[in-house]
Amino acid sequence: VIDVRKLYTEHGYFTYDPGYGSTGSTQSSITYIDGDEGILTHRGYRIEDLAANSSFIEVCYLLLEGELPNKKQLAQFEKNITYHTMLHEQIARFFSGFRRDAHPMAVMVAVVGALSAFYHDSTDIHDPHQRMIATHRLIAKVPTIAAMAYKYSTGQPFIYPQNDLSYAENFLRMTFAVPAEEYKINPVVAKAMDLIFILHADHEQNASTSTVRIAGSSGANPFACIAAGIACLWGPAHGGANEAVLKMLAEIGDKSKVKDYIKRVKNKEDNTRLMGFGHRVYKNYDPRAAVIRTACHDVLDALGKRGEPLLDLAMELERVALEDEYFISHKLFPNVDFYSGIILQAIGFPTSMFTVLFAVARTVGWVAQWKEMIEDPTQRIGRPRQLYTGYGERPYLPIDKRK
Ligand code: ACO
Repeated sequence: VIDVRKLYTEHGYFTYDPGYGSTGSTQSSITYIDGDEGILTHRGYRIEDLAANSSFIEVCYLLLEGELPNKKQLAQFEKNITYHTMLHEQIARFFSGFRRDAHPMAVMVAVVGALSAFYHDSTDIHDPHQRMIATHRLIAKVPTIAAMAYKYSTGQPFIYPQNDLSYAENFLRMTFAVPAEEYKINPVVAKAMDLIFILHADHEQNASTSTVRIAGSSGANPFACIAAGIACLWGPAHGGANEAVLKMLAEIGDKSKVKDYIKRVKNKEDNTRLMGFGHRVYKNYDPRAAVIRTACHDVLDALGKRGEPLLDLAMELERVALEDEYFISHKLFPNVDFYSGIILQAIGFPTSMFTVLFAVARTVGWVAQWKEMIEDPTQRIGRPRQLYTGYGERPYLPIDKRK
């Protein structure tokens, strides 16, 4: 390991690494990725094992505390989280300030950032107990805010949390239940939702997590930092990818047009990319995609949606791209968001909610990384350098002498 800090302080050198593709910005013991081998572990546990055996809330405990919980620890953790699922009533009123057609990610950025105005007590980042409460509050309240953002966009009344349900079930109920109508949780859907949350929980120093760390490195409060992460996640090259997948499918329109679309992508016409394909780190396959692919096919079968034209088109696109020499030679495989978009569409979420669901899941990764950073004695403010390409020094011209 080269200590780049010394290169700079002792020799005046710094590295130029656009996009930080080969810059390690921190030490971390939370998540490990081997992009060549397609390995993802959290605290040493393979994502495939966690997906097959754990609940999302158990994975939250693992990411935050470093170990899988025993029964007593899990029960206490669930109690701690459910204690905080409600929002202050004044936050509920906050929603009415938004236009009905506001993108729910815009609402998420604003409302999560505004939590710091309501929960002053847990903005003291130097108090370990308050740090813990802040992490619990964020994990607990983000699904409530997300469901409210959805309800607000549909004009339906908010549904308050029901704390005897699991994290995923509670979220589905707050989103889809309508007052005075019985809401039955479909176990296949709840399991798929929980799986999507697990698969998106953390992914080491991706753009939004790095954003959270950079924001937090200045000592900003955790609610502001997570709002910064949500803002970064919104982009189509990151969390917006699953929404972009569905937009792309709508643009292709019909199964018969898949080959033409692939040709456009290969010819790089208008910089068109196959959304939901490729990954900065995984250059062989995304292990999360392998897990979610099976779940995706199960959900389509269980909900009787396999024949639906849009979903059928997605399956055709997957088939054609996986056999195409361009995608094989560029090591471009479907990533987790290709399938999560299809599942979420089948469950009934509008595309505008897709990135919101990613934010709900990733909140635990962000808070775990934020907490790790705050507790690291070597932590310094994040301050990248730049390669200046502008003018050298020039004489100042008075306005009447300028061309
Ligand atoms: N479709 C077509 N070609 C692609 C794609 C794609 N989805 N992704 C990369 N390429 C091509 C590029 O055109 C380039 O080709 P060239 O070498 O012939 O010029 C080559 O593959 C390398 O591309 P880069 O942009 O350097 O790859 P990078 O690692 O920076 O990009 C990224 C990773 C942003 C994810 C990219 O693959 C992409 O845009 N994918 C689509 C968006 C997407 O699905 N994002 C989700 C990421 S996963 C997540 O956030 C959970």
